[in-house]
Amino acid sequence: MKEIEIDREGAKKCEGKLGVLLPGLGAVSTTFIAGVLAIKKGIAKPIGSLTQMGTARLGKRTEHKVPLIKDLVHLAKLDDLVFGGWDIFEEDCYQSALNAGVLKKELLDEVREELERITPWKAVFSKDYVKNIEGPNVKEEKTKYDLAQSLIEDIQKFEEKNNLKRSVMVWCASTEVFIEESEVHRDIESFEEGLKANDKAIAPSMIYAYASLSAGVPFINGAPNLTVDIPALNQLAKEKRLPVAGKDFKTGQTLMKTIIAPGLKARLLGIKGWFSTNILGNRDGEVLDDPEAFKTKEVSKLSVLEYILQPELYPELYKDLYHKVRINYYPPRGDNKEGWDNIDIFGWLGYPMQIKVDFLCRDSILAAPIVLDLALFTDLAKRSGMYGIQEWLSFYFKSPMCGLGLYPEHDLFIQLMKLMNTLRYIADEELITHLGLDYYY
Ligand SMILES: NC(=O)c1ccc[n+]([C@@H]2O[C@H](COP(=O)([O-])OP(=O)(O)OC[C@H]3O[C@@H](n4cnc5c(N)ncnc54)[C@H](O)[C@@H]3O)[C@@H](O)[C@H]2O)c1
Repeated sequence: MKEIEIDREGAKKCEGKLGVLLPGLGAVSTTFIAGVLAIKKGIAKPIGSLTQMGTARLGKRTEHKVPLIKDLVHLAKLDDLVFGGWDIFEEDCYQSALNAGVLKKELLDEVREELERITPWKAVFSKDYVKNIEGPNVKEEKTKYDLAQSLIEDIQKFEEKNNLKRSVMVWCASTEVFIEESEVHRDIESFEEGLKANDKAIAPSMIYAYASLSAGVPFINGAPNLTVDIPALNQLAKEKRLPVAGKDFKTGQTLMKTIIAPGLKARLLGIKGWFSTNILGNRDGEVLDDPEAFKTKEVSKLSVLEYILQPELYPELYKDLYHKVRINYYPPRGDNKEGWDNIDIFGWLGYPMQIKVDFLCRDSILAAPIVLDLALFTDLAKRSGMYGIQEWLSFYFKSPMCGLGLYPEHDLFIQLMKLMNTLRYIADEELITHLGLDYYY
C-alpha cells in the first residue's frame, strides 16, 4: 500500500486562531488552560510538552541538526489558542481550578480574569453513564440526536464569536460505565437512527464525538470510554477527512509501566507478577469508585503489559504473569495520587528478584502537557491531510487506537520513534532508522 500523500502546503498553513473545545472543565482541563495562560505570561514553563520543549534530530549524527519540534513543523502558537467547554457544574474555570486543588491559588490569581471568562456551556450528561456525580448545568433536549444538534450549535457559535477557522475537541470529562461495541455502532446510518431512538448503547461521550466530527472538528479521547472507537464514528471521521485519536491519557502508573516493562523485556527478564495499586482523592477518583466506571479504566490499564510483553512469543518469561490493578478513592490526597507497584521478576536460571515503585505523582500535572500536545499535533494532522485514526499519537495514550487487524503498540520508545518519524515525514525530512552502519564502513 502506498504511504498517504501529505498536504505539505496545508501542513505549513496555520495562521489564525485554533479553538480547543473541552467536554469536562475539571482538574485536567483547568490545569491545562491555566498552565497555557501562565506560560504565555512567562511565569511558568511548559515542562512535559514535546511541542513546546522537544527537539528532533535530522540527518546524520555528524550534521548536528537538532531543531525544536515547533521549528520543524508548523504548529499553532500558544497565543493563538482559544478555549471553550462544557461541564455539568456551573463554576467558571477559575473556581473549578480552585476546587480541583491542583495549582496554587497564587498562580491561578495571576491568570484569574482569563479563567473567569471561560464558563461552561450546558453539558450532555446522564447518570446512567457516570453514577457518582450529578450537576445542574445539563441540556434537556428529548433525543440524543437533538442533544448532538445542540452541541453542534455550541461549536458553531464559539467558532463564529472567536472568528475561528479551525478547532479540535479533547474529551476531558469523566470516565463512563463500561460499554461494548454493538449493532447500533456498526455504521453511521444505524448510529444516527440510534441517536433518534435514544439507544442506550450511545453514551454522552459518543454524542460529543459525533457532534465534533459533524461540525468538522477532530476528536481526541482522553478517557478510557469506547466513544470514537466504533466503526460508525470511524466511518464519519474518514468521510469528513478528520483525524481521531485516543484513548485514555497515559500518565502516572501506566506511564511508569510502559517505561519499565519494555526495558525488562528488552533484557529478557521474566515477570511472574505485577501488582499495581494506588490512592487518589480527586473527582476522577470519586467517579472511578463506581465499579462500572472502574471496569472501563481497568480494561484500559490491564491490556498494556499483555501487548508489550508478547507472552505468546515468550511463554517461558511471561505466560504465567499475574497482573492486578487497583484504584482506591481516598479523599485526603486530592489530585496527588500515590501509586505503588510490586514487580516480581526472575533472571538467569530463574532466580527471583523484586522491584518496588512508589510514585508520588500529580495526575493533572502529567496530563496537562498531553492535552496541549494532542491539540496541536491533531490540528497539524488535519492540515496535513491525515484523517481517521492517528496511531502516531499512541505515545500519549494508555489504550492506543489502531487500525483493524493491527495490535496496539504500547512500548513508549517505539511510540516515540513513530511519532518523531511521522513529524519528519510531514516536514519532508529523511526518516531515521538508527542503523548507523555508514558511520563505520
Ligand atoms: N489526570 C490524569 O492523569 C488522567 C489520565 C488519564 C485519563 N484521565 C481522564 O481524564 C478525564 C478527566 O480527568 P479529571 O481528573 O479532570 O476529572 P475531573 O472529575 O476533575 O473532571 C471531569 C469533569 O467532567 C465533568 N463531566 C462529567 N461528565 C460530563 C459530560 N457528559 N459533559 C461535560 N462534562 C462532564 C465533571 O463534572 C468534571 O468537572 C477522566 O475521564 C479521567 O479518567 C485523566
